[in-house]
Amino acid sequence: MTETNPPPYVVVGATSPIARAYAADCAAAGKPLLLVGRDLAELELIAADLRVRHRAQVAVERYDASLPGEGRRLARTLAVRPPAAVVAFHGIMGGRDEFAAMLQVNCASIAELFESVADQAAQDGGEPVLVAVSSVAGDRGRQSNYPYGASKAALDAYLSGLRNRLHPLGLRVVTVKPGFVRTKLTEGKVNPRSPLLAEPAQVAADIRRAIEGSADVVYTRWFWRPIMAIIRAIPESVFKRLKL
Ligand SMILES: NC(=O)c1ccc[n+]([C@@H]2O[C@H](COP(=O)([O-])OP(=O)(O)OC[C@H]3O[C@@H](n4cnc5c(N)ncnc54)[C@H](OP(=O)(O)O)[C@@H]3O)[C@@H](O)[C@H]2O)c1
Repeated sequence: MTETNPPPYVVVGATSPIARAYAADCAAAGKPLLLVGRDLAELELIAADLRVRHRAQVAVERYDASLPGEGRRLARTLAVRPPAAVVAFHGIMGGRDEFAAMLQVNCASIAELFESVADQAAQDGGEPVLVAVSSVAGDRGRQSNYPYGASKAALDAYLSGLRNRLHPLGLRVVTVKPGFVRTKLTEGKVNPRSPLLAEPAQVAADIRRAIEGSADVVYTRWFWRPIMAIIRAIPESVFKRLKL
């Protein structure tokens, strides 16, 4: 790969406000982008905006995380131009009836994609950083959103194992754990004036720093790390009585 043809940053679930902010950061830094998602028309709009604003090199690719097999197909597409990083932002939040769908979109789809990208990297010598956006909700199941939390906990365990497997090969895996972020996922659920509510651009900046640095697991904003340490430390006999 030459200086004039640097490897792209792959942004999966690129219509998410956090992903948009991350893509804008990358474009401003002159990094080529591949925006991936299921709404091709919206992706084209985002790409056009980034090309005009930042003269960025931006391509788009359709991908539906609810369909098994899509991760392997996407990985084959990526093999043509091995990426610098694959950042999975996609996710859904539902209730007890949507548990299977959440396990597929929030965990299984990412596992399928990352396994295929890692296998490809082992063949072509690429060194993509594999990054997935999980959630603090995966740290402990709460009555208000435990099916979503369980799907993110499954993702956390998966990423931890993948990191362990890929470390000897020199490949990095980064787990990103946001708390509350101002997006449609939190609309009507979190007080818009809450000091705990982060802006998508703040979370995107934390993700960029994590990819450039050496972090394995990143809480964003940073204060969620101590908050969740306290939540995890509450004994189950007490926790089961709390209204959380
Ligand atoms: N907002 C928060 O407070 C918060 C906190 C912790 C973690 N997170 C995580 O952050 C990530 C981004 O969420 P967000 O808050 O920005 O929510 P969002 O605006 O709802 O974004 C979700 C993204 O996932 C994509 N997506 C959903 N189902 C998909 C599928 N079957 N195939 C491909 N893409 C699919 C959506 O694409 P469409 O545009 O096509 O729907 C969208 O790009 C998620 O993983 C979420 O769990 C968010």
